[in-house]
Amino acid sequence: MKTTLAFDVYGTLIDTNGVLAGLETLIGAKALDFSKTWRDIQLEYSFRRGLMQKYENFAVCTSQGLDYTCAFHNVSLTDAQKADLLGLYRVLPTFSDVKEGLTRLKAAGFRLYAFSNGKADALEMLLNNAGIRDLFLGVVSVDDIKTFKPSPATYGHFLRQSGATGGSAWLVSSNPFDVIGAISSGMKAAWVQRSPEKIFDPWGIDPTITVTSLVDLADRLSESSL
Ligand code: 2OP
Repeated sequence: MKTTLAFDVYGTLIDTNGVLAGLETLIGAKALDFSKTWRDIQLEYSFRRGLMQKYENFAVCTSQGLDYTCAFHNVSLTDAQKADLLGLYRVLPTFSDVKEGLTRLKAAGFRLYAFSNGKADALEMLLNNAGIRDLFLGVVSVDDIKTFKPSPATYGHFLRQSGATGGSAWLVSSNPFDVIGAISSGMKAAWVQRSPEKIFDPWGIDPTITVTSLVDLADRLSESSL
């Protein structure tokens, strides 16, 4: 069977810092810190909801994370300004290497899927808006099973939906928790280290390979792994 690649979306294909320009017009120099807190708390909420079995979809984690972030940074935004920021989240841009990397991997014969915490409709909109939806065979959302990465159930769900087996499927993600989750569930995984200062968790569960971009991934995944 041809090798299946499951691409994480937020932070791997799609740049969550794409809200920065919009944030800067609202809150100026605090924008970068604000954006980081927002992303971190969004993920923390997904982890906690998964552990507590109190599922609400990822957009709820994003929206409640925005409220928390405003309080944390002592920033007052109107409901309309928050709605605008959440609107930006639905049309975030890709990283600059994404289209070329995906195009090369697809041309090399890999089976490409998007696999994310986001809801399917939000993912379809993001990928279509970015002009990369057609490169994927399908979009798999954890929303189908009402829990979040890195629950083992989510990686099992991906394998069932894509018809792949663990040994022939790779997760591709910039999120170390996602890479560790996938490997622990029997998949291979490529960690996309998007900047040199990003640290991989020292759990003794290492990525199968580490790459710096999706173009680097296309260079590294040889025909022999098909
Ligand atoms: C995603 O599933 C974890 O944000 C990441 O797209």
